[in-house]
Amino acid sequence: MSFDLLLKGGILPDGATADIAIEKGRIAAVESNITADAAETIDVSGNLVSPPFIDPHFHMDATLSYGNPRINASGTLLEGISLWGELKPLQSEEEIEQRALSYCDWAASMGLLAIRSHVDTSDEDGLKGVRALLSVRDRVKDYITLQLVAFPQDGFYRSPTARDCTLKALDMGVDVVGGIPHFERTMADGRRSVTELCEIAAERGLRVDMHCDETDDPLSRHIEQLAYETQRLGLQGRVAGSHLTSMHSMDNYYVSKLLPLMAEAQVAAIPNPLINITLQGRHDTYPKRRGLTRVPEMLSYGIRVGFGQDCVLDPWYSLGTADMLDVAFMGLHVAQMTSPADMRRCYDMVTVESAAIMGLESYGLAKGCKADLVVLDAGSPVEAVRLRATRLLVVAGGRVIARHQPDETVLSIKGRPATVKRRV
Ligand code: FE2
Repeated sequence: MSFDLLLKGGILPDGATADIAIEKGRIAAVESNITADAAETIDVSGNLVSPPFIDPHFHMDATLSYGNPRINASGTLLEGISLWGELKPLQSEEEIEQRALSYCDWAASMGLLAIRSHVDTSDEDGLKGVRALLSVRDRVKDYITLQLVAFPQDGFYRSPTARDCTLKALDMGVDVVGGIPHFERTMADGRRSVTELCEIAAERGLRVDMHCDETDDPLSRHIEQLAYETQRLGLQGRVAGSHLTSMHSMDNYYVSKLLPLMAEAQVAAIPNPLINITLQGRHDTYPKRRGLTRVPEMLSYGIRVGFGQDCVLDPWYSLGTADMLDVAFMGLHVAQMTSPADMRRCYDMVTVESAAIMGLESYGLAKGCKADLVVLDAGSPVEAVRLRATRLLVVAGGRVIARHQPDETVLSIKGRPATVKRRV
């Protein structure tokens, strides 16, 4: 028996040590001591071997556009939306595609091998992005699973063209139905948009992922309607509410009613810690609200939560490196998830939990799963979060697609060791 690739001695996320054999793009065996030959054998002993990172919320049509045509001076969500409106007519389909491909290179190098990206479907300018990202989805499919969400950024009803263009995008092959109820003209229009978009998803057999209540207004409660429509239309387990930042500011009694309704409807939540902590609370003086939704409370009700990245170098966020460990690190801090179990859950929220939200099949390290994985310069998931660990090796579809050197600093201090590693 000869395998294509054999990884020896890695530490699995549960702490066990195992060899992993890969054959024809699939994991063929996960055992303690595999002695069979392989075309390539790599010693990964002492290093964490993990299923790949997953980003369940991104905007790939806007990424790497920072500063074009100007920066977001106020730092608010609303100025970001205006700025995006200025940029859209200026960018060509080819430019969007090239930026997206560059970003996918970054993602691949970071072991980020599945991304759910929203794509603006407000107007014909947005459809340039749809065409570009459909092409990118195909071009990167051997190493990144790209799932696209039809996202009427300017409001499904508020924009005169968004409804038609959103339907057109779904006809063109966009995977998921999106929305932005808190940006419609009235609360009533927001509720109505949730209903119609969920009906569209139910008719077409698609998943739903709405930007929902991305505001500090505690009365923005469209998540309630989203849970209701999920239940009414039989979409349980196929619907996510992204951001949900208003929940941070909601009345506690109301939240105690809302969370069981979300759990009952199996509506998942996708907070975006890097973005929520920078965009929200901008109208506050002090105390200044954090704007991250109630992550530990949702988890305590059994609601599935996946952390998203949302933005990298675009009208809404001036930083970012495609590192989902940055996202987990920020989420851990802002949600105060500091117990060992909670820190571990933060790692799961950028891997297994987000994979489940996206409905990825064959994800994981079990025999028969797709051979996508990442080897990290860390001994455990929590250490990976602490270090935002170097990706020593990225494997996609059974092939090594990226290699990095371990993180090590050469010291020149008399009487001290020559090198420093930050692992313990
Ligand atoms: Fe977003």
